[in-house]
Amino acid sequence: MKFFIDTADVGEIRELAQTGLVDGVTTNPSLIAKSGRPMAEVIREICEVVDGPVSAEVTATDFETMLKEGHYLAAIASNVAVKVPLTVDGLKTCKALSDEGTQVNVTLCFSAAQALLAAKAGATFVSPFVGRLDDIGADGMELIEDIVQIYGVYDFPTEVLVASVRGPNHVVQAAKMGAGVATLPPSVLRQMYNHPLTDKGLAAFLADWKKTGQSIL
Ligand code: E4P
Repeated sequence: MKFFIDTADVGEIRELAQTGLVDGVTTNPSLIAKSGRPMAEVIREICEVVDGPVSAEVTATDFETMLKEGHYLAAIASNVAVKVPLTVDGLKTCKALSDEGTQVNVTLCFSAAQALLAAKAGATFVSPFVGRLDDIGADGMELIEDIVQIYGVYDFPTEVLVASVRGPNHVVQAAKMGAGVATLPPSVLRQMYNHPLTDKGLAAFLADWKKTGQSIL
């Protein structure tokens, strides 16, 4: 399973990339706005830090302008994945860009029917938003299960990129279902590797070790 980081904060990405656990990055217009920086500059910097796909989202809503924005974003670096919303114009843009060999991430997916269309449009990734579905009382993980099943039946190459992740449990459930990618807010990746029992256990081991007076090197 691949882990992407869901942020436009280059400092956070630099720090987390050093763990060797980061396979890519996703951004969206809200995350770019939060960074307070020019989009092209941020995407260029992220692409220098991370070798894997870096999602950069178009902001137009009509096919012609989306396609132009997609070309502009894809030219920033070879690892840019152009992100388009799951609308008719977004799907048309996805088809056109993927036919040209550009990676495309179809975002704002909230149903299995939408995910089926994204795969048929040649998406590299489809991003179902599990947290936002949970927020309205639906079951986000059930959607992941459905998409993984459907894509498996038809052997679609589109990767299921689990988005709007709220905690480690979403990631573990997605892994059990066989989703290919999860995009994690930095805090969720940290929650995954931090555990109070690990800290407590390590402190006890080191205290006992100190008593021996030994050193390994
Ligand atoms: C990822 O591609 C999405 O932009 C992101 O996961 C959305 O998450 P949110 O629902 O926490 O804003």
